[in-house]
Amino acid sequence: MKSRDRLRIAMQKSGRLTEPAQDLLARCGLKFRQSRDKLFCFGEGEPVDLLLVRDDDIPGLIAEGVCDLGIVGRNVLREFQLTNGTGSELSELRPLGFGHCRLSIALPQEDAYSEPSQLHGQRIATSYPGLLGEWLRAHGVDARVVMLAGSVEIAPRLGTADAICDLVSSGATLVANQLREAAVVVESEAVLAGRAELPLDERGEIAELLLRRLDGVIQVRD
Ligand code: PRP
Ligand code: ZN
Ligand code: MG
Repeated sequence: MKSRDRLRIAMQKSGRLTEPAQDLLARCGLKFRQSRDKLFCFGEGEPVDLLLVRDDDIPGLIAEGVCDLGIVGRNVLREFQLTNGTGSELSELRPLGFGHCRLSIALPQEDAYSEPSQLHGQRIATSYPGLLGEWLRAHGVDARVVMLAGSVEIAPRLGTADAICDLVSSGATLVANQLREAAVVVESEAVLAGRAELPLDERGEIAELLLRRLDGVIQVRD
């Protein structure tokens, strides 16, 4: 791969993390000019560019070296770490204090829930097989994981699953689908992801500068 001298940060193109992530970078003193395709933003002051992508693609882009840092949900990062061979190269560099949500197991409203063992033998639909699998093993539950890329909440009504494991923020989607939250699998928020070791070149220096500014911004806000 061609070496780059500019730092590249990936973030969600459009979604709940987009605006707060842009705000945060602005407060770190970064200014960007959007390209015509709106997928790449050129940094005007510091040598830092922005890549606007699907959130689920961010850990892979960092692992492949396409970008250096990413602003992504902890849930997406940890799922990648659990399900990809290159995942161990990545780490959560900073929690960012926005985009709070949780990855939870939810059941149809009419099903009472008291303990994990109840899920034994059940089919659980999720887009997070790694995180759900880890929780099931930790609780000694033998359940069947049904993989769905989206609209997971509809699975129980369709009869393709008995329960789900998906993100809950306001809880509105659960209510709309007559589901109730039963157990929290992961507490999530937006995080800064990157390789565990920063590059030892110019990019590494820019990344370090950015981390220092970020720590200042986060401290002021707390
Ligand atoms: C997420 C998540 C739930 C929903 C929960 O989907 O997958 O479906 O939000 O939010 P609520 O509790 O406030 O209703 P979203 O459409 O934001 O992202 P995705 O397309 O990446 O799944
Ligand atoms: Zn997504
Ligand atoms: Mg969704």
